Amino acid sequence: MNILLLGSGGREHAIAWKIAQSPRVEKLFIAPGNAGTALVGTNVAIKADDFPAIKEFVVANGVDMVVVGPEDPLVKGVYDYFKNDEALAGVPVIGPSKAGAQLEGSKDFAKAFMGRHAIPTARYKSVTAENLAEGLAFLESLPAPYVLKADGLAAGKGVLILDSLEEAKRELGEMLGGMFGDASRTVVIEEFLDGIECSVFVLTDGKDYKILPVAKDYKRVGEGNVGLNTGGMGAVSPVPFADEAFMAKVESRIIRPTVEGLREEGLDYKGFIFFGLINVKGEPLVIEYNCRMGDPETEVVMLRVESDLVDLLEGVAAGDLAGRALAIDPRAAVTVMLVSGGYPEAYEKGKAISGLEQATDNILFHAGTKADADGTIRTSGGRVIAVSSYGKDKEEALARSFAGAKLIDFEKKYFRRDIGFDL
Ligand code: AMP
Ligand code: GLY
Repeated sequence: MNILLLGSGGREHAIAWKIAQSPRVEKLFIAPGNAGTALVGTNVAIKADDFPAIKEFVVANGVDMVVVGPEDPLVKGVYDYFKNDEALAGVPVIGPSKAGAQLEGSKDFAKAFMGRHAIPTARYKSVTAENLAEGLAFLESLPAPYVLKADGLAAGKGVLILDSLEEAKRELGEMLGGMFGDASRTVVIEEFLDGIECSVFVLTDGKDYKILPVAKDYKRVGEGNVGLNTGGMGAVSPVPFADEAFMAKVESRIIRPTVEGLREEGLDYKGFIFFGLINVKGEPLVIEYNCRMGDPETEVVMLRVESDLVDLLEGVAAGDLAGRALAIDPRAAVTVMLVSGGYPEAYEKGKAISGLEQATDNILFHAGTKADADGTIRTSGGRVIAVSSYGKDKEEALARSFAGAKLIDFEKKYFRRDIGFDL
């Protein structure tokens, strides 16, 4: 079969790497892809949310399945676009409908959904300019720190955690006033949860689900989890505290009610669900839902999926996922992200990358790269290369990734040397 994967980051390179290993795949296209995806498939110069151009390509190239990497096309309704188009209706899209993608696209929707299905999450109140007074009163009823979340997509920047009540009240006003544009016309105020986070991924056909390997990502730019939030500086899998007892609670209290809730509410959902969880004294609560895989978690999760991913995706499309096998590699997998100096603030692009071919002990996923006509690979983003490795345990895998991270070089390269330190 021919598959079109939408997206261009490290997550998409990891998914493309896994898809390309399947004997069922004839052609793999990535739109728009990066210099790494070009090593395992064919890049196509189409933006991931340019639906008419995607349609034209799918029809002209006999694409049998579309796999969606990022949230943007899903929240904009790529699933529905295919379903409602005569020429595309037979081509399955792996990803939820626009209505299902609201789990990520609207935090207010997600919180209300969890409320309807008794899924454990932080106490909250949704506020708009109309009921600001209620929001201020709710803030006053909470102990510090204070969590404010823009309702809509804000490129990962829409969450503020504030230490003082005065600050929280002021920022609430700023957010409602348009700090994140329309995304913060509604703000979710949440009780702060104190615990350790992990990322749980599920693949669902809308009835049944498979639980993929659990991972933990490292979002802060600085060692010891300090400094600004980034798109992710590294990840590890498995996560020791996500043991059998914890995962049994996650499945019965969170995963099953979510999949059943989607079905009961008639929300079409055939794709990945990302549960951002927090472990508070052994009890799992949902911090957020995403309607896609995580980045950089995918750069470790795909290493640990032993089964043919395309077989599982076909199960999603056919609605017979229950009958498909998911075997997990028992080894540990880690990834260390090489980033451009200065990221997540201002940084330079276009730096030549050396040493990629020397990192033979690693699996390299390109996040922000571009190839020159002469084959030189250059940086083209803040996050540049995810250096992934296997090991018998996390320590062995990390030693391999750090060794690879030193072999690969570009001007002002930076990476965290403490990924996995808190596990
Ligand atoms: P989100 O964009 O929803 O993933 O939030 C970004 C980060 O803010 C999360 O990964 C958490 O570290 C933190 N966060 C969000 N909600 C809460 C909460 N209720 N309590 C504590 N930390 C939170
Ligand atoms: N790693 C977190 C995310 O993909 O949103």
